[in-house]
Amino acid sequence: MPAKILDGKALAARLQAEMATQVQAWVTQVGRPPGLAVLRVGEDPASAAYVRGKERACERVGIASFGRHFSAQDSPAHLLDTIGQLNQDERVDGILVQLPLPPGWDPIPPLLAIDPGKDVDGLHPLNLGRLLRGEPGLRSCTPLGVMRLLQAEGIPIAGRKAVVVGRSILVGKPLSLMLLAADATVTLAHSRTPDLAEVTRAADIVVMAVGRPRLLRADMVKPGAVVIDVGINRIETPAGSEQLVGDVDYEAVKELAAAITPVPGGVGPMTVTMLLANTLESYKLRSQLSETWV
Ligand code: GUN
Repeated sequence: MPAKILDGKALAARLQAEMATQVQAWVTQVGRPPGLAVLRVGEDPASAAYVRGKERACERVGIASFGRHFSAQDSPAHLLDTIGQLNQDERVDGILVQLPLPPGWDPIPPLLAIDPGKDVDGLHPLNLGRLLRGEPGLRSCTPLGVMRLLQAEGIPIAGRKAVVVGRSILVGKPLSLMLLAADATVTLAHSRTPDLAEVTRAADIVVMAVGRPRLLRADMVKPGAVVIDVGINRIETPAGSEQLVGDVDYEAVKELAAAITPVPGGVGPMTVTMLLANTLESYKLRSQLSETWV
């Protein structure tokens, strides 16, 4: 039986509509809208498109944008100064530095400079440490989006074998910790894993996050497995146009998986939605509408 298509785009639209209603009520109570600052450096076209998507989503739910764009020739000290000002700015609940930074820019100082209470990307060592220890805190948006999608679709995690392919700090490492916290038995595979097919074939849930077009073929998937595709790869078609494909051979794998996310329209819209959710969490905490992280 062909797989159930996990429609992240539809779930994201539903969640954002709910957020928009909540934000309206909170603005009356608090006297200001939630605020998010997305900081971008350089001219990477993919980053520019992602940041535009984030700002448009903010607008839809009523979050004020305090974004800045820096030239790649600007100084890292200027970026750090700006982060310092945004940390102090009462109107700003979330700060995010869009990655990757241009060549020559070290991402560690800006990520460390962000106030951990405003770290809506969950990349500050304090928030990553909280995740490792199983304590409440801000969580990275893409892994959080994957977990929310699995939960919303009623896909059980506890006791199941989950394989995450890709060990990035943005996705693979935090997601494996979140799956572990949800009582999955987790394997974290990567580019140096010998016989990847053997590892992925054992999985009830496979998450692909490596950035290699269509790496996961049908013969690497156990029939009935749940397949989550975090990859977004731009490839050229034989006709010469550009196409977005994931890390999964979608057409083949959807014939034997129990459920699968499409690219685009799967995990991507959930990432943006979790950024909004984190910004609202931070806003509620900072405005004393709530007392702890969820
Ligand atoms: N670049 C691609 N994905 C992300 C993300 O989730 N956060 C940041 N900061 N940069 C990214």
